[in-house]
Amino acid sequence: MKYQNLGTSGIEVSRVAFGAWQIGGGTAWDCTDDSACDRIVSALPDMGINFIDTAKVYGTGRSEMLLGKALKGKRHDFILSSKGGMNWRDGEGERFCYNRDGQTVYQNTSAKALRLDLEESLTRLDTDYLDVYFTHRQPITVPIEETMGALMKFKEEGKIRAIGISNATIPQLEEYLKYGKVDVVQEKFSLFDRGTVRQYIEFCKDHDVTFQAYSVLERGILTGKFSRETEVHEGQGAYSMLWYARDRREAVMGLIDKIQLIADECETAIPVVAMAYALCTGEHINAICGGRRPEHIAQSALGADLALTQDQIQRIDSAVDALHEEFGCSTHKF
Ligand SMILES: NC(=O)c1ccc[n+]([C@@H]2O[C@H](COP(=O)([O-])OP(=O)(O)OC[C@H]3O[C@@H](n4cnc5c(N)ncnc54)[C@H](OP(=O)(O)O)[C@@H]3O)[C@@H](O)[C@H]2O)c1
Repeated sequence: MKYQNLGTSGIEVSRVAFGAWQIGGGTAWDCTDDSACDRIVSALPDMGINFIDTAKVYGTGRSEMLLGKALKGKRHDFILSSKGGMNWRDGEGERFCYNRDGQTVYQNTSAKALRLDLEESLTRLDTDYLDVYFTHRQPITVPIEETMGALMKFKEEGKIRAIGISNATIPQLEEYLKYGKVDVVQEKFSLFDRGTVRQYIEFCKDHDVTFQAYSVLERGILTGKFSRETEVHEGQGAYSMLWYARDRREAVMGLIDKIQLIADECETAIPVVAMAYALCTGEHINAICGGRRPEHIAQSALGADLALTQDQIQRIDSAVDALHEEFGCSTHKF
């Protein structure tokens, strides 16, 4: 495993983070086995992973609750991040997000809502501080000055150590930076996204902000278990990934064959190549791997130590360019 500083926070994190959305279960991920979280958390040190990503909404609180139990007595061994700004408390907010597992989730990044979100996350995670706290989605009507003001206050109070923002644009990050330090952004980025987020990645580099990539494995497409037969249904986590669409399937399977060849050359597996591709895009990139099985996380984490050659990177890029020419660049419905 390799390690990096998170922005300029002085916090050292493994370049691969464990993503805990999947263990939250529900209709999105169908994980009813509570012990999966314990098994993964116990195995993370052997993988060299010290960074855990969760969010208040993952499994509508279940991911945080299971992590709180699994981290008992081990909290200080990990860098723990969570996200707020989406809640199912009172049906109030700037935007309706979704109905899931009997809850109606709204986005609300007001100072008042964020404080309630943070307190609820701390309780579920059974901790008195978070290492990183993200706004999960970005304000529409709430001024960023208010949202960032709340985050800065949490930092002053010692409740969070670093500030992150997720699903943002460059102008939104610029606006946050007017009011204080953002150490990390969390955005969708996989080898399918060549070109579409490079400008944002460069902007982060120039501003000492770590770029943390999610969906590096395209929610299962880049895992070696995706096939012509794979089905995905509304409500499942993978449903919002455009490369799952039936009319793209043959083309995507063609890309996977090319990535398999590269994996064979490296004597490794497809998810390792996908993780390595994201990480080799810049030293300030951090890559999350989500999962319910320790052996999956352990294998994907090997991507931190795989150096792809320039020729291999170019072969992936030109294969993806061909897909973009056929279908356009858009990869994500949200
Ligand atoms: N900020 C945001 O808005 C946002 C959005 C989405 C995700 N995230 C974060 O990013 C994390 C990961 O992104 P993602 O949810 O899009 O999923 P992802 O990491 O692209 O894919 C996760 C899936 O890949 C499978 N997998 C992982 N390694 C594997 C391996 N070596 N072999 C076979 N299968 C493997 C897992 O299977 P199993 O479950 O069977 O182990 C899991 O279902 C989430 O957990 C969450 O923390 C953030």
